[in-house]
Amino acid sequence: MKIAIYDNAEQVAEQAADIICQKINGKPNAVLGLATGRTPLNTYQQLINRYKQASVDFSQVSSFNLDEYLGVKPNSENSYRFYMNENLFKHLNIKLENTAVPSADEDNTMQTCHQYEQQIKQCGGIDIQLLGLGSNGHIGFNEPSSSFASRTRVVALASSTLSDNSDLLTSQEQTIDKAISMGIATILESKEIVIIALGKAKAQAVAAAIEGALSASCPASCLQMHANVTWLLDQESSSLLTQKHYYQLSQQLLA
Ligand code: GLP
Repeated sequence: MKIAIYDNAEQVAEQAADIICQKINGKPNAVLGLATGRTPLNTYQQLINRYKQASVDFSQVSSFNLDEYLGVKPNSENSYRFYMNENLFKHLNIKLENTAVPSADEDNTMQTCHQYEQQIKQCGGIDIQLLGLGSNGHIGFNEPSSSFASRTRVVALASSTLSDNSDLLTSQEQTIDKAISMGIATILESKEIVIIALGKAKAQAVAAAIEGALSASCPASCLQMHANVTWLLDQESSSLLTQKHYYQLSQQLLA
């Protein structure tokens, strides 16, 4: 794993956007895996800036989002489809029909999950997957206890996740307690993975994922098994890493 530690969130976002733009510039029809939450917002702003400066073109790019709340309509402000349209897609020349978010009602979830996996395969797989990290170590909505062999499916949300995300949700919605999420095996099939973690609240999960044992109790620890992963961290999120000095040395030597 490459573990890159920066002074602040802005530098992390620039680095994440550099990696994504390099991928698209080398492969104009790249397939992106995208995340939601607070963490990628600066990165998305950087991508928008670069598109406006004409240094990247999204016209042939396609994308798959990691997850979506179950039963939430795509046009609801609480949906991840709404988040993606507002925070990224509508500012780029990406074709909306080439962007996928795994939306479903309660009664057709099996079919949706199966089709989502098929769709990813038909596109040739995900070239680069952007991930955030839950404070409990989740990736996507693969909560602790998720199998490393899991695929896209319906998941129950952990109470810590619901409380972490509560201030992002408006009250208009019925109770949100489930989601559809790409599985861990689905995520691990991505050719390249970039994971961002920012702030003190993520420090324990970062340490467990990078330096702890492989364990379903910390879903992000699965990334230790992937051959092309880059962790982008700020000072706070990396504060509990015991080998921080070594990672910084490697970062300088391999730059
Ligand atoms: C959310 C999403 C994840 C995201 C994570 C961290 O619930 N399902 O994909 O990476 O939790 O969220 P935040 O970036 O807001 O801390």
